[in-house]
Amino acid sequence: MSNEKILIVGAGRMAQAIIKGLKKADFTNVMVANKGNQERLEEVESRFNVDSTTQWQEHVSDQDIVILAMPPEAHEQVLSELAPVMTNQLIITVAAGIDVSYLEKRLPEGTAVAWVMPNTAAAKGESITLFTPGKNVSDEQEYFIEKILFSIGKFKKLNEQQLHALTPITGSAPAFIYRMALTLINKAKETGVSEVVAKQLVAQMIRGSAEMLNSELKCTADLIDEVASPGGVTAAALSVFDQYQFDQMMNDVLTACYERAKQ
Ligand SMILES: NC(=O)c1ccc[n+]([C@@H]2O[C@H](COP(=O)([O-])OP(=O)(O)OC[C@H]3O[C@@H](n4cnc5c(N)ncnc54)[C@H](OP(=O)(O)O)[C@@H]3O)[C@@H](O)[C@H]2O)c1
Repeated sequence: MSNEKILIVGAGRMAQAIIKGLKKADFTNVMVANKGNQERLEEVESRFNVDSTTQWQEHVSDQDIVILAMPPEAHEQVLSELAPVMTNQLIITVAAGIDVSYLEKRLPEGTAVAWVMPNTAAAKGESITLFTPGKNVSDEQEYFIEKILFSIGKFKKLNEQQLHALTPITGSAPAFIYRMALTLINKAKETGVSEVVAKQLVAQMIRGSAEMLNSELKCTADLIDEVASPGGVTAAALSVFDQYQFDQMMNDVLTACYERAKQ
């Protein structure tokens, strides 16, 4: 059982994924707040058996950790309300583009802050989460951060610049995979299999491919070659990737993500 008191500001997709992980890992003191969608707050409260509040500012001084899980553009206002009521809490944000320098600039001198970048697989305990601790984070606080991140999957400590650059790859790219999955599922359905079966086929294909990617024995180019024997059907398919300049498209996709997060 973990007794740290955690307040989560934001009750959307990412907050719920994190709460699910925290509850599974036996964090017992979790409170959630949002912008004002009362129906959503009540739903989260009953679904995950956590406390909720519409006045989070009044509860900050009771907490050990505050996790900010609202949109990047809401941070300016929320941090200005948080700063005057803080009493030494560790402040963590999950927002794209909101790095530790941003937080340290807006919170009282000496505040311990961290920037973490999970993805929605957190809901299944399968996130790969990147994190950067700020300069005032103690060893004990870093241990708390790692304990929280462990509850939602695997994690890696990196520097701020790396987090900016990798946000598109670990935070946003699941959507790219789902987008491709959707096309494959729709194509599979055209053969007459049901939606459920089509999803199972595609999900297991992605899971198996991920396992192969994780293997230390083979490099990624070899994995492609293994599937695509010269002159074979997969090689013909991959030549269409080249025809449509797939690598260039992916570079543009990642750049668009990076630029948006910088804004
Ligand atoms: N979704 C992802 O895959 C992903 C991955 C990595 C990081 N993130 C980061 O996670 C954060 C949340 O994303 P999300 O996908 O969970 O968004 P979301 O589903 O739209 O939820 C946003 C939540 O923030 C609350 N909120 C908005 N403004 C607020 C304010 N001023 N004060 C208090 N609460 C406020 C909303 O309140 P109401 O309930 O009242 O509307 C809502 O509960 C973002 O910063 C995003 O960059 C998301």
